[in-house]
Amino acid sequence: MPTIRVETSPFSYPVVVGSGFLRKSRGKLPPELRNRSFVIISDETVWGLHGPGLKTGLVPGRAEAILTVTPGEGAKSMAEANRLLTAMLQAGCDRKTCVVAFGGGVVGDLAGFVAATFMRGVDLIQIPTTLLAMVDSSVGGKVAVNHRLGKNVIGAFHQPRAVLADLELLETLPSRQRTAGAVEAVKYGLLGDSRLLKHCLSRPLADWDMPRVVAASVRAKAAVVAQDEKEAGPRRRLNLGHTLGHALESATRYRRYLHGEAVALGTLYAFRLAIGLGRASESDYECVARLYRTMGVPLQLPRTPFRRLLELMRHDKKASRGRLLFIVPVGLGVVEERIDVPDRVLQEAYEDLKSRIEGGTPE
Ligand code: GLY
Repeated sequence: MPTIRVETSPFSYPVVVGSGFLRKSRGKLPPELRNRSFVIISDETVWGLHGPGLKTGLVPGRAEAILTVTPGEGAKSMAEANRLLTAMLQAGCDRKTCVVAFGGGVVGDLAGFVAATFMRGVDLIQIPTTLLAMVDSSVGGKVAVNHRLGKNVIGAFHQPRAVLADLELLETLPSRQRTAGAVEAVKYGLLGDSRLLKHCLSRPLADWDMPRVVAASVRAKAAVVAQDEKEAGPRRRLNLGHTLGHALESATRYRRYLHGEAVALGTLYAFRLAIGLGRASESDYECVARLYRTMGVPLQLPRTPFRRLLELMRHDKKASRGRLLFIVPVGLGVVEERIDVPDRVLQEAYEDLKSRIEGGTPE
């Protein structure tokens, strides 16, 4: 069972990637966490499907509270974080309590935010249940809630003490979610893991070797986080496809796109931008667009005018004083940062993308 260590400044922690160990999950924790009291934060769907397995495996008699939220991005709010913090105070949790985030990206970000703020920060264990959370969001310590003025703009860096990725949990994952999560794995291929990219390009999604894909993505992410924990430099590259992606999610009020779907469109946009800037070729774009199509990613842009998307991108936390940062591919497997791309070039790249994919459907 591969265990990847993530080296960060406060401590290093294991990411265990395997299959079918949820019922024995306590044994996978670092020894100092095994006898702690836990608060589990999950969503209603995940808890209904997998709660009993986790309860017997991780916390026989040791759960101070089990708190569930309604599935969906709407749970990532200050109001919901406040409700969970209140429940923890009422349950008598203290600084030794360990928060377990048991769910997908939304639960991981929200429970992580709660762990980062409860009594100035308590330990966190991430047990991701979606492919997206396994390959990306559960690793690296980014935790946050959304604000009406932007996605993930209220948050912290709060590294987990351990991440347990049990691939058996993916058996109940709806295929749309699986596909969207796979987009983040492809991202790690496009950022430089050529073997991973080749694997994804050479077979249908149903035939991907998931333990290998998850482990490779986590290894790639761990290497970047070890270099730049707080996104002052190289970690910014993990935002490939996210500048436009977040704007698409926000413009459609988080209802139309799964995160990975918006990132796929954002990545294709980054390729169109790269072509406009003379940094990538048509064949690179075609290769990635074909891969997303084969995977079954729905590629449709909203009717939102580009000037609105531009405005949203300028409010994103990746922008600095309204100056936009784009991660732009240089062929396949290398990316570079671009700031101050003229609005005209940004708009042309968008029109260009729109004309190439089926677009313009109503929200
Ligand atoms: N999802 C990108 C990062 O964690 O930096």
